[in-house]
Amino acid sequence: MIALFDSGVGGLSVFKELYRILPREDYLYYSDNANCPYGEKPVQFIRERAFEISRLLMGKGAHIIVVACNTATAAAIHALRERFDIPFIGMEPAIKPAALQSKSKVVGVLATAGTFKGELYRQTSTRYASGVTVIERVGKGLVELVEKGLTDYPHSSEAVMECIRPMLDKGADYIVLGCTHYPFLEDTIRKCAPGVGIINPAEAVAKHTADILQDNGYVFGNGGSLELLSSGDGSILEKMARSLPLENGFAIVRASTESSC
Ligand code: DGL
Repeated sequence: MIALFDSGVGGLSVFKELYRILPREDYLYYSDNANCPYGEKPVQFIRERAFEISRLLMGKGAHIIVVACNTATAAAIHALRERFDIPFIGMEPAIKPAALQSKSKVVGVLATAGTFKGELYRQTSTRYASGVTVIERVGKGLVELVEKGLTDYPHSSEAVMECIRPMLDKGADYIVLGCTHYPFLEDTIRKCAPGVGIINPAEAVAKHTADILQDNGYVFGNGGSLELLSSGDGSILEKMARSLPLENGFAIVRASTESSC
């Protein structure tokens, strides 16, 4: 069983890529939407939530946990790996591919305040962004829009434009999506920034997860289901999960909030 968690629905953008590679697996997804957004919350709080959620997911049979949230990865990935025995996969800020492909040598990174403050982001940015100007912007209000399902253009264009304008003004030709909620705004970002490349690390994270499973001798499934758990109202999560391009036989089950933490 492959488990994922996020502060809300954003991690479904990672699930979508995992499903493309491993469509016959049984998945568990936890949305901590009662505590969403994580972006400005104290590191200690996010770490405690990550521990609690991980314990719950392991109790339900998770063999691996994908921390499908950049902010939670920044706050907790090392601590989770130290504390628990199963593999934990975190989100990587995809600065490297953006820096390599950029012609203008200006790239924008859109993420939460918590992700930018994290050691992982600082290390990645120092290692891969030499010779490149990186314009960092917090995606203010974007997580909230996605949680409300308001992702369509032009609904979301004003908020998106507000966040990416400083990158475009400085000549960025690539934008890195450093939060798993933002891929749901990809169409709007494309319309607001025509010709600008968008880098979403979800596919690479999904491939890495499949590799780690293989290395650990995981017996790949022959089923195909997604169980949805949430700390708050799970209706948007279910709606968004059902709107993903999944095969007919793939089962989506929404667990009751009581079985949550
Ligand atoms: N999906 C989370 C991330 O990748 C959202 C952060 C938040 O809840 O603010 O960072």
